[in-house]
Amino acid sequence: MKHLQGPIGIFDSGYGGLTILKEIEALMPQYDYLYLGDNARAPYGTRSFETIYQYTLQCVQWFFNQGCTLVILACNTASAKALRTIQQNYLPTLTDSNKRVLGVIRPTSETIGHYSKTNNIGILATNGTVQSNSYTIEIEKFFPAVKVYQQACPMWVPLIENNEYNNAGADYFIQKEIKNLLQQQPAIDTILLACTHYPILYHKIKNFVSSSTTVLTQGNIVAQSLQLYLTKHVAIENRCTKNGKIQFCTTDSIEDFNSHASVFFGKKVHAIHVDVAV
Ligand code: DGL
Repeated sequence: MKHLQGPIGIFDSGYGGLTILKEIEALMPQYDYLYLGDNARAPYGTRSFETIYQYTLQCVQWFFNQGCTLVILACNTASAKALRTIQQNYLPTLTDSNKRVLGVIRPTSETIGHYSKTNNIGILATNGTVQSNSYTIEIEKFFPAVKVYQQACPMWVPLIENNEYNNAGADYFIQKEIKNLLQQQPAIDTILLACTHYPILYHKIKNFVSSSTTVLTQGNIVAQSLQLYLTKHVAIENRCTKNGKIQFCTTDSIEDFNSHASVFFGKKVHAIHVDVAV
């Protein structure tokens, strides 16, 4: 059984998934984690369904080749555009029936309704996530009374990935999309940052909304949901190694990754370069 064990895979198009991994590690430091940022091909958010699916599938295959049993798509865009097809069409073709891929949209949708008093929730996300309507569809299943309003923020990931988010020019784009969201429904009292990059903008966003508005990030929600999942799925949990180690991998420059990643992860990281193309 030993040879079937491996780290838990955490995937993002770039740096954003580190905001999720940070919370997962804080809650469950005992596990080993393998982080992959597909920085060479980020951002995913403006790409087509087919491209996002192909890129995400390649990365999932890479994780499985590294010995992971469980892979978390810590990227809303990949969760929205690729997860279902991977679960339904790819996983059943594998000889190992215990391989699992989970996303971030379902755990967030299961709990988000509890945060709103007005039953009006705003979603800020990439074009890809908004166009997929995944949040509207998933939240409806758990909270039918909740109305969901979405706003795509196409400039936000490039501003963050290029380390331009602290400049005055960035505020224009941040404020603009929040205004567009609140114009759809002024009674929105809960705003979900439905892109793993956006927690970097949390304090700026808080400045542009009323003090009574809840601005939600996903890291803690996803971490708690993963903990519950591992408790319930003992066969999967048994295949996760527990040495408290994290390996960071990027498909692009190690130097860039190491210098940007600490903003997202809160600690210094030392990544290695990998090639995921098959
Ligand atoms: N961090 C990703 C997400 O949660 C999107 C970043 C990108 O566009 O690549 O949606």
